[in-house]
Amino acid sequence: MVTGLLHSHSALRYLVLFLLLAVLVRAAQGVFAKKPFLPLDNKLSLWLLIATHLQLLLGLALYFVSDAVQFNSETMSNPGLRYWAVEHITGMLVAVVLITVGRVKSKKNPEDAAKFRTLLIYNAIALLLVVLVLWQSGRGILIKP
Ligand code: HEM
Ligand code: HEM
Repeated sequence: MVTGLLHSHSALRYLVLFLLLAVLVRAAQGVFAKKPFLPLDNKLSLWLLIATHLQLLLGLALYFVSDAVQFNSETMSNPGLRYWAVEHITGMLVAVVLITVGRVKSKKNPEDAAKFRTLLIYNAIALLLVVLVLWQSGRGILIKP
């Protein structure tokens, strides 16, 4: 079961990263080229939210069954153990919250430019955080080194 969860969690990262980029590119076009907010923009941000929440669910399940997460006297002093017990979950939780708040706030605003601006700011910080946290994992951002 751990292997299946890990493979799903590992594969879903590509969808999350792709959707983050897609939402960001369209949001930048919306802000800087003043494009209208189309139904596709709403759909992309919804798919991003669903993929991210699914990633959160898989990550939470992994956290309780994975051998990478260990709690012992070494956990905090060993950077490899600390990364999976503390840093990955904390950084990614913040990113998930940013993506969620970005969508909720953007949905509430009736103005197209403001919708795009909110999506741009929240998702840009989220993407930066996800990339930094993945880079820190030592397993590579896109492929294992
Ligand atoms: C640990 C599990 C999860 C947590 C803590 C969580 C939390 C949240 C939160 C806080 C919201 C925002 C509510 C709002 O609009 O104010 C939300 C919305 C949503 N979540 Fe999750 N979620 C989880 C899992 C999932 C899963 C597994 C899916 C689907 C695969 C999912 C799909 C959605 C959808 C579709 C929305 C509403 C999007 C919208 O209309 O803007 N969530 N969730
Ligand atoms: C956008 C959010 C996230 C992304 C992009 C992401 C991505 C990844 C990636 C790429 C791996 C390495 C997979 C591999 O080596 O094949 C991983 C492992 C892991 N993730 Fe996440 N993750 C996210 C959120 C979370 C969250 C919120 C949690 C915990 C609640 C979590 C828990 C874990 C655990 C425990 C592992 C280690 C599994 C193992 O090696 O046994 N992840 N994650």
